[in-house]
Amino acid sequence: MELGTLNQAFQEVEDSKPVEDIPTTTHVQLEEKVADPPANEYTQIKPYAGMPKEVLLLYSSQACYRVPREILFWLIVACTLTLVALTISVVALSPRCLSWWQVSPVYQVYPRSFRDSDGDGVGDIKGIQEMLGHFEYLNIKSVWISPIYRSPMRDLGYDVEDFRAIDPLFGTMQDFDDLLAEMHKLGLKLIMDFIPNHTSDKHRWFNLSRAREPHYEDYYVWADCSATGPKPNNWVSMFGNSSWTYDEVRGQCYLHQFLKKQPDLNFRNPRVRQEMLDIISFWLDKGVDGFRMDSVKHLLEAAHLRDEPQVDPDKPPESVVSEWDLHHDFTTTQLGLHDLLREWRAQMDDFSREPGRYRLMVTESQDGPEVEKTMMYYGTPLTKESDFPFNFYLLDLPQNTSGLWVKHLVNLWMANMPTGRWANWLVGNHNIPRVASRAGQRYMRVINMLLLTLPGTPTTYYGEEIGMENINVTESQIQDPAGRYNASASRDPQRSPMQWSADPNAGFNNKTNMTWLPVHPNYSRVNVEVQKQDEGSVLSQYRLLNTLRQSELPLQRGWFCYIHADRGVFAYLRELDGLDRAFLLVLNFGHESAVTDLSAITELPGRLRVLISTNRANDGKVFSKSLIATEAGEGLMIEFSSRARFNTNHPGMCYVSEKACYLAAMDILYTC
Ligand code: BGC
Ligand code: MG
Repeated sequence: MELGTLNQAFQEVEDSKPVEDIPTTTHVQLEEKVADPPANEYTQIKPYAGMPKEVLLLYSSQACYRVPREILFWLIVACTLTLVALTISVVALSPRCLSWWQVSPVYQVYPRSFRDSDGDGVGDIKGIQEMLGHFEYLNIKSVWISPIYRSPMRDLGYDVEDFRAIDPLFGTMQDFDDLLAEMHKLGLKLIMDFIPNHTSDKHRWFNLSRAREPHYEDYYVWADCSATGPKPNNWVSMFGNSSWTYDEVRGQCYLHQFLKKQPDLNFRNPRVRQEMLDIISFWLDKGVDGFRMDSVKHLLEAAHLRDEPQVDPDKPPESVVSEWDLHHDFTTTQLGLHDLLREWRAQMDDFSREPGRYRLMVTESQDGPEVEKTMMYYGTPLTKESDFPFNFYLLDLPQNTSGLWVKHLVNLWMANMPTGRWANWLVGNHNIPRVASRAGQRYMRVINMLLLTLPGTPTTYYGEEIGMENINVTESQIQDPAGRYNASASRDPQRSPMQWSADPNAGFNNKTNMTWLPVHPNYSRVNVEVQKQDEGSVLSQYRLLNTLRQSELPLQRGWFCYIHADRGVFAYLRELDGLDRAFLLVLNFGHESAVTDLSAITELPGRLRVLISTNRANDGKVFSKSLIATEAGEGLMIEFSSRARFNTNHPGMCYVSEKACYLAAMDILYTC
């Protein structure tokens, strides 16, 4: 704008106002300034720069400028606030990114049996490292390794002599560090076993405690008794007989809820609590990604040491010898237990702050039908404990293979899990006979299909991905101490060497003929190498389903809706709002072939094409939704196009008779 135009503007302002409105001095000064602007370079180039305060005041005092400016101002404020509110709601409503432990199954390695690198017959850390490619092949990211701490091996590693050392049988601390570094390089997470309830009787603390060394005197649970007299009470060990053993050095009895060689620590002693926190820090400092916490319900016992009530009060007290003979009112789930777990969780949270370094906490506690006790390990909405307590309910699956039964077991977890938490599933571990032997090889594929398509994290016990079965163990071959008390309780059958190939010893080792437990005779057929070549094998299907589970959001975090259960078939949907791809699972756990009618599910299209069948010959088959045929032990995964919930007249969250569905997305659980 030219200087002249500016003057004209000033003049217009002048003209629009009666002269008396404007103070004279201003008028005079204005005239002077405008008529004779200072002749410096700045005003010549930018005439506005010299606009005097009075002119600005003049403009601002005029309503015709102030009103639009104020409107503009408030409009900007309103827009900014709306934008901020929108951003906050989008962030709050968007599903959180799933963490590593939710995306991948957890794979349990029993280290004695995975791979023996040095040919001594026992698996080791270097052996695990040699086989990391297996996890990449399966698309598994989380690996839990059963105990590898220094141990006299009376409970094969669950009796720890030094929580900060690696047992030489498995290798050295350097081997461990190498394994961890290599796993992290490959994007794999390592979960350690943590055994807080007891130590080995060879642990330094126990020797100091039995010698009543100051500081250590109360590290364990001691009670008065004599060498030959009665025990302090009727409590029994999980492995049978009294849970009290007289110690000659101290002249008192110590408590052991497991073997005699596994004295229980005294968690009422703050020093013991601190020791455990320090041990957790030791491994987290090293970079381990989480812990599976062993036998947590046994951590505390009632201080009054009263007898536990007998299951059958009419039986003589001498007949009480096994855990099944008593109600464990005073030896499990005592007040204060959850405080301990919260303490550990808080410690792990401290280490989880680093971005991408979330530390997982899983608790092991078998509470049988008392499902609400198990659920308490999730913590409360304000204080978190485990990311998940292990779900042992599907261990009962082989008892009764029917669709209704499987649905019942699944529902035990889903209906009782606290709102907003994450489910998990397993069908085996080192303590339970193998699922392929209990349910039958015929059901292995459909069981894996169930585990990999339910909402939540599945845990796979090594060998389940190829359908490994129990071995027969003769009396002289028994390794498990529990089996020495009672041969039928031996856990050896499910701990046999991993079957890698048809080579000698199933490729478990290649230097000797020796393995700590026999290899299953079916190894030439049931092994990783052979099954890799066969598209229809248990292994290939596991891999395919696991890959789909991780690439398909509806499977990972979508709705889970029961739609059908009968004597044979269990069927459910997985779908996610806003996504077109959805999945129908029709799993036949029965003993006969079945034809399932899903015509009542209006959401399903009339014709359904099979994406994956556990019987590969049926891949691609098209069924009418009223006639979906499955063979006994066959599972079908059917992909269909779902008109997303929010965009259509969806019947709601409830489907026909079953009337229940769950949303894993957004971490919210709905029951309807
Ligand atoms: C482990 C067993 C072990 C016991 C005692 C259990 O929870 O899984 O293998 O024998 O704890 O430590
Ligand atoms: Mg070895």
